[in-house]
Amino acid sequence: MNPDIPVQLLGGITAREFLRDYWQKKPLLIRQAIPDFESPLDADELAGLALEEEVESRLIIENGVRPWEMRRGPFPEDEFSKLPETEWTLLVQAVDQFVPEVAELLENFRFLPSWRIDDVMISYAAPGGSVGPHFDNYDVFLLQGHGKRHWKIGQMCDTDSPLLEHTDLRILADFQGTDEWTLEPGDMLYLPPRLAHWGVAVDDCLTYSVGFRAPSAAEVLTHFTDFLSQFMSDEERYTDADAQPVSDPHQIQRDALDRLKALLAEHMGDERLLLTWFGQFMTEPRYPELVVGPELDDAELLDSLEQGAILIRNPSARLAWSEVDDDLLLFASGQSRLLPGRLRELLKLVCAADALHIDNLGQWLADEDGRSLLCELVKQGSLGFADE
Ligand code: SIN
Ligand code: CO
Repeated sequence: MNPDIPVQLLGGITAREFLRDYWQKKPLLIRQAIPDFESPLDADELAGLALEEEVESRLIIENGVRPWEMRRGPFPEDEFSKLPETEWTLLVQAVDQFVPEVAELLENFRFLPSWRIDDVMISYAAPGGSVGPHFDNYDVFLLQGHGKRHWKIGQMCDTDSPLLEHTDLRILADFQGTDEWTLEPGDMLYLPPRLAHWGVAVDDCLTYSVGFRAPSAAEVLTHFTDFLSQFMSDEERYTDADAQPVSDPHQIQRDALDRLKALLAEHMGDERLLLTWFGQFMTEPRYPELVVGPELDDAELLDSLEQGAILIRNPSARLAWSEVDDDLLLFASGQSRLLPGRLRELLKLVCAADALHIDNLGQWLADEDGRSLLCELVKQGSLGFADE
């Protein structure tokens, strides 16, 4: 998409302006970001999803067995009929993986890398329902799907911000409101990480949260070093062949620190491994058990495509690609594959994976690497046949 064309979703500013002025910096209210938006699913359908074993869901009851009680799904069918008339919320995670029309909403966010997007969570709240004043560590776009929700935003928070005790949720003890708005269907509020917010349902309401993922520094360090350590032999150690006689044998001297820094720099500075780890990490699926494929060989795949089969991305899979020197890396649901540079357009096609068929795959099916890549992705479960 052209970053300099005004975008309706962003209230008429361009993607470039949004990223410069708001993204990760300050909130933005967009009236009718999606004009006349009609929620593709209703409260009953959302409740239905919360009964399913593979779907992550939570119920928040403001005045439950304790203030801000949280119950985790899956829920039995009669759970919802036993709830009070007001002041509770049902939250269902990753609805985009189960409802294609919800996944389509993400097309509106193509000005951001898809690997930064976590999921679309949908909440249903009874009148007065909310999850309390809180902050999140990630960016979020809150799109009103049905009914009205009154949002208040407040101060920037961090791990030292005081929280209420004896609740199941991280509720801010001290919410300092700065602005407030009532959102109607199609209105959207962007919030940067750590900004306090509090959305209370005015009537029965559905809110869509497009959430983002950003690994913490601690995650980057622990996961990357774990990954690196697979490639190191036990013989590779701290060495000091250049050691000098010491004046005090109990002192750790500067030269030891310098050797350690050199050892760390040598490994941490390996860009190819860093990229490989990052791509694998950022494409790890939320539900790996939903990314499984059939046994299949190149000839069978070719045969199916020739008979009109269509391949699409498994909604639970994550795909991304990158370049290393003259080669390419494809990341698919936590795995990576090094590929020759000539497959660039195929990788783009696969990552977009709207629909892959004999017509748009054409030449790639004649390429041995291209064919084997497609076959691997089907076997791994990242791509699947549309009619299955
Ligand atoms: C909600 O949809 O009720 C909560 C969303 C949020 O505050 O992050
Ligand atoms: Co929040």
